[in-house]
Amino acid sequence: MRIDIITLFPELLQSPFEVSIMKRALENGKVEVHFHNPRDYSNNRYKQVDDYPFGGGAGMVMMIEPIDKCIQELKAKNDYDEVIYLTPDGEVLNQGMANQLSLSGNLILLCGHYKGVDQRVRDHLITKEISIGDFVLSGGELAAAVLCDSIVRLLPGVLGDESSALTDSFQDGLLAPPIYTRPAVYNSWEVPEILTSGNSPKIESWREQKAFERTRELRPDLLKDTEI
Ligand code: ADE
Repeated sequence: MRIDIITLFPELLQSPFEVSIMKRALENGKVEVHFHNPRDYSNNRYKQVDDYPFGGGAGMVMMIEPIDKCIQELKAKNDYDEVIYLTPDGEVLNQGMANQLSLSGNLILLCGHYKGVDQRVRDHLITKEISIGDFVLSGGELAAAVLCDSIVRLLPGVLGDESSALTDSFQDGLLAPPIYTRPAVYNSWEVPEILTSGNSPKIESWREQKAFERTRELRPDLLKDTEI
């Protein structure tokens, strides 16, 4: 997979790709990530990328020309499955969307800043708009990092234990069950006995039951379509 990220602030996106799973995915060639700055596509001698909104109002708007030029240059070299704009008024990201996007070949992610981008970018160049939640960030960069992480960890061969993404919360519509590791007793707080019993079928059904109970308690909305 190739991910091209268009951003005025690539520094904001550096560290998420420099550690842990995303770093390994890059090193193992499972994903390629490239950053592009709209400033490098500005015709203006001041490298201007934003301007006042027509009709007045607070804040600056990212101009269409540098973004369009950047996207056209990328499209001339690669085929893309989606051109995604990160925005608080987009479709809210969930595990199903991450699963779907992990099947893509190449993606372009556009990070907005200031008041956002000229609406014509959204109308003519963007194929999908994604929000990471009902709150407003200063720009799309942190949202792009979240989106990339949720996708990259699902690419085949990225997680060491192949099955571990399948046991994540949400993969089966339920939250994940509680997990424990050594020591079995700490400060007299004990690990549930079943987990140290060695009885795999019983452990499996305990985990299923706990996943269900936890979901019913913390996220009953996830069960509303499930008849149990
Ligand atoms: N840009 C600003 N806020 C955002 C959000 N919540 N999700 C995606 N992109 C954003």
